[in-house]
Amino acid sequence: MIKQIAPVITIDGPTASGKGTIASRVARHLGWDVLDSGALYRLTALDVLRTGGQADDVEGVAEIARNLDVNFREGRILLRGEDVTEAIREEAVGNLASRIASYPPVREALLQRQRDFLRPPGLVADGRDMGTVIFPDAPLKIFLVATAEARAERRYKQLKEKGFPVKMTDLLEDMRARDERDSNRASAPLVAAPDAITIDSSHLSIDQTVEMVLDLWSKSSI
Ligand code: DC
Repeated sequence: MIKQIAPVITIDGPTASGKGTIASRVARHLGWDVLDSGALYRLTALDVLRTGGQADDVEGVAEIARNLDVNFREGRILLRGEDVTEAIREEAVGNLASRIASYPPVREALLQRQRDFLRPPGLVADGRDMGTVIFPDAPLKIFLVATAEARAERRYKQLKEKGFPVKMTDLLEDMRARDERDSNRASAPLVAAPDAITIDSSHLSIDQTVEMVLDLWSKSSI
């Protein structure tokens, strides 16, 4: 049992299921902090790429994860003082993040850093193992899913808006490969916690999904 100093809502799910958007909207509504745990894996991947590290050197990558010099400030993400908010969203970085996230020492290196985000009045944490490994005692756990097609379409729009060149067929293929890897890895795979509530957002708007989570929270915290 991990001492819970403030309430946590965990939102886990596959890539592009809308976790990040839902987590930050729920957090804003409650006046809580938000943890985008995927950003930590993406930052590690970006640092591996930038420092010319070997992606298959498990210990070397874990060392990079351990020493990440990162700052989350007013919605921006700084790596060694440089704003990398957009750079970590590139597909190449996401794909490498998914690979190195399967290394147990990398997950171990990022574990306490994630728990340290928890402080009053509360935290909304999004990722793959928030409800299973990082915050197993969270009073509300959401498992957010959507069909691969719905997710690829959302990611396509996101990347296009940011000016990244993308092809829908490549996106779908990457997404399936990443789902496969995230779900089948031995260490902290993407699975719903037994006490998680699954929400399928394929046909729900952002507002409807946020509303559902807030409704579940108000019922569970009575
Ligand atoms: O949520 P995202 O797409 O930004 O995450 C990038 C990768 O990081 C994802 O493919 C799997 C990994 N990840 C993880 O293993 N555990 C987490 N809690 C969050 C992300």
